[in-house]
Amino acid sequence: MITTISKLKDHVGKEVTLRGWMYNKRGNGKLYFLQIRDGSGMTQGVVETAKVDPKTAENAEKLTMESSIEVTGTVNKHPKLENTYELQVNNIQIVHLNQNEYPISKKDHGIDFLLDHRHLWLRSNKQAAIQRVRNTIINAIYEYLNNEGYIKIDSPILTPNACEGTTELFEMDYFDLGKAYLSQSGQLYIEAAIFGVGKCFDFGPVFRAEKSKTRRHLTEFWMLDVETAFAEHEDNIKIEEELLTHIVKSVLEKNMNDLVILERNIEPLKKIQPPFIRKTHQEVIKELREMGSDIKDDDDLGGDDETMLTKKYDKPIFVEKYPAAVKAFYMKRDPKDPTRALCVDLLAPEGYGEIIGGSQREDDYDTLLQRIKEHKLPLEAFQWYLDLRKYGSVPHSGFGLGLERVVAWICGLEHIRATIPFPRTIYRLTP
Ligand code: 4AD
Ligand code: MG
Repeated sequence: MITTISKLKDHVGKEVTLRGWMYNKRGNGKLYFLQIRDGSGMTQGVVETAKVDPKTAENAEKLTMESSIEVTGTVNKHPKLENTYELQVNNIQIVHLNQNEYPISKKDHGIDFLLDHRHLWLRSNKQAAIQRVRNTIINAIYEYLNNEGYIKIDSPILTPNACEGTTELFEMDYFDLGKAYLSQSGQLYIEAAIFGVGKCFDFGPVFRAEKSKTRRHLTEFWMLDVETAFAEHEDNIKIEEELLTHIVKSVLEKNMNDLVILERNIEPLKKIQPPFIRKTHQEVIKELREMGSDIKDDDDLGGDDETMLTKKYDKPIFVEKYPAAVKAFYMKRDPKDPTRALCVDLLAPEGYGEIIGGSQREDDYDTLLQRIKEHKLPLEAFQWYLDLRKYGSVPHSGFGLGLERVVAWICGLEHIRATIPFPRTIYRLTP
């Protein structure tokens, strides 16, 4: 019976066939220990050459790292280790014998070498574990939103206008129609869609021509945008809190083995329960200054500020009501203080910083028109967006979650680049 390494525990004492690759091999003519991986996990196959057919003994001898194989054997529970199963091998079929030296060896390679070989690096144990966690996070997002009645709306990638700030746009010539830009966020489009379906989301790649070389920035990344009709600032915060709690719970349920492979301390993850910490921008500025930062009253939080602040906490922190001047044109102002936006960023703890950015949206036609003018945005390109405030405008709110930032935090990774299969940064377009 063909099965996968992750399911070996269901077949103890039985004969199964695994299909995968050789990770490593130890042993001599009599006894071989094969480290086999198949994408679902890693296991050890024990080959006693005197007990198997001659062809299998020969194959065990011949096998090289990264050769692809089909291995049949009896499943044994490891005598000492919990959750560990081994295969007493009866038969080995070689699918493809690798006869080349594999570029990635067991020794430490530099990050640039590994990224140049990303197409191969993805096979390594930690990298596969990261992708499995990423997959759980994606599915948990769909699960939560489907349960809450959200409709997926696919927003366009080729757009005639900016969503977030015109300095970070990838621009191209678009036939006879002038310039097109790669989407920075589908928000404006899913705002249109709530008037049809009430609550919705999109989830796809977005693009930012970020000059920043920080550990938090990619030029292509995956964003979840969520938008809810009739939701106000407080409702928005509650949705974010529930969504993130569901994501972390799912990973703890489904990816314990992967978190072990990644050597992730799970204690902080276990604490991700509502209510999260909540602070205003003003409070955060004061707190940062007390910690030695020279941040000014009306500054946006920089990467270093977020690191310093979130290292202090083991729960996510909502930072709300930033100065309107440092935030996007579409944000509604705080009626209690119109110099502030009704916005909220969610910062991940343990030094990670912003993972979600959101706000209540300006829903008054004239006010929004004025903001578009203040931001010197091209009015024609935003006329359709203004229309939404013309026919049955409603209070509404939403947010954008950066998938790679969430994966980096949950996996406990130093840098965002290993969270995406093929990272794109200002320095990297290959492989
Ligand atoms: O805060 P941002 O810029 O918000 C928006 O784009 C809104 N339109 C979203 C919305 O309200 N629907 O981006 C949202 C999130 C950030 O919190 C961060 O997690 C991630 O996207 N992000 C990046 N991730 C990787 N590389 C970059 N260059 C990123 N820029 C933003
Ligand atoms: Mg932001």
